[in-house]
Amino acid sequence: MKKILVTGGCGYIGSHTIVDLLQNGFEVISADNNSRSTPAILEGVERITGKKVKNYFIDLCNLEDTRRLFIDNPDISGIIHFAAFKSVGESVEKPLMYFENNLGSLFNLLKCCTEFSVDTFVFSSSCTVYGNPDQSPVTEETPIKMAESPYGYTKQMSEEIIQQTVKATNIQAILLRYFNPVGAHPSNQIGEVPIGRPANLVPAITQTAIGKLSQMQVYGNDYPTRDGSCMRDYIHVSDIAHAHTLALNYLIEKNNKTNCEIFNLGTGNGYTVLEVIKTFEKISEHPLNYVIGGRRNGDVVAIYANNEKSQQLLGWKPQYTLEDMMQTAWNWELKLKEEQNK
Ligand code: WQD
Repeated sequence: MKKILVTGGCGYIGSHTIVDLLQNGFEVISADNNSRSTPAILEGVERITGKKVKNYFIDLCNLEDTRRLFIDNPDISGIIHFAAFKSVGESVEKPLMYFENNLGSLFNLLKCCTEFSVDTFVFSSSCTVYGNPDQSPVTEETPIKMAESPYGYTKQMSEEIIQQTVKATNIQAILLRYFNPVGAHPSNQIGEVPIGRPANLVPAITQTAIGKLSQMQVYGNDYPTRDGSCMRDYIHVSDIAHAHTLALNYLIEKNNKTNCEIFNLGTGNGYTVLEVIKTFEKISEHPLNYVIGGRRNGDVVAIYANNEKSQQLLGWKPQYTLEDMMQTAWNWELKLKEEQNK
């Protein structure tokens, strides 16, 4: 059984990916300093899979602590690297904190890959690297544009650092560019736990619907789209998770043609903010209290994926519809409220 190190394993996408890895025959350990997450999420992973996952409570920016993990686990055969700060807004306020954390942790992991001969590396990237594309759908060959935020810039720099590093080492890497991950595991045992007021659309919708937020804003309805609101490619977090398992197997089976391959993870469908809200209202039978506000700085007008490469080479096929995404997100919000009231 191959052992995989998942960094950021207590996070939203990390925890969902651990579930998928365990259900597909991998052994998993996590490294997460819980600066933006809670170890309790691994209890949810255990409820789903029946398996305990050990989390190493370390800061990956500390090289000695990171090396110690590899010394204690000489049988790590692959890494999936999620651990990073990911708030666009916060990155604008604290760029140096983002550069130090997101790049420092990557440097240390790549150094350990070399020192401990771990040559399978899957990196959590983002469609944010495309900036504001001239058109959609975007393919993996769509030119990268200047990032709209320091967060996006750390993803672009991280991709470049990995692409340069694999040329000088035995590391075989895959960069997975997520579009907009939303929803929760269908078991409702794990889901997204935003810290503070949610910046992202779907948690803002569900928190407004459940009353945590009194009202939400639609950031602009004067864009050149079907209904004037921005368009995105929303993708269920469990579909994203399964792509990581497929990416690992792709590398383990040496199906990769080059040392660093890039894959888009989106459904290939674009939905506007207002269409997402309407879908939520339909599944939850809950009219949403929102107003149309001004545009949000840095927002991309429209972006959605061409996901043919992921389908053809990884054998990946998104299973969840937009209704499923809204239903599972709503179920999770209801569960969080239930637990809060206990
Ligand atoms: C989606 C749309 C908003 C909240 C970011 C990162 C990306 C990834 C996902 C980390 C936009 C609108 C939102 C609200 C709204 N993060 N919106 N009212 O900006 O596409 O992507 O988060 O990996 O890398 O860039 O996602 O969910 O913030 O916004 O109208 O209260 O919803 O304007 O058009 P985004 P989002």
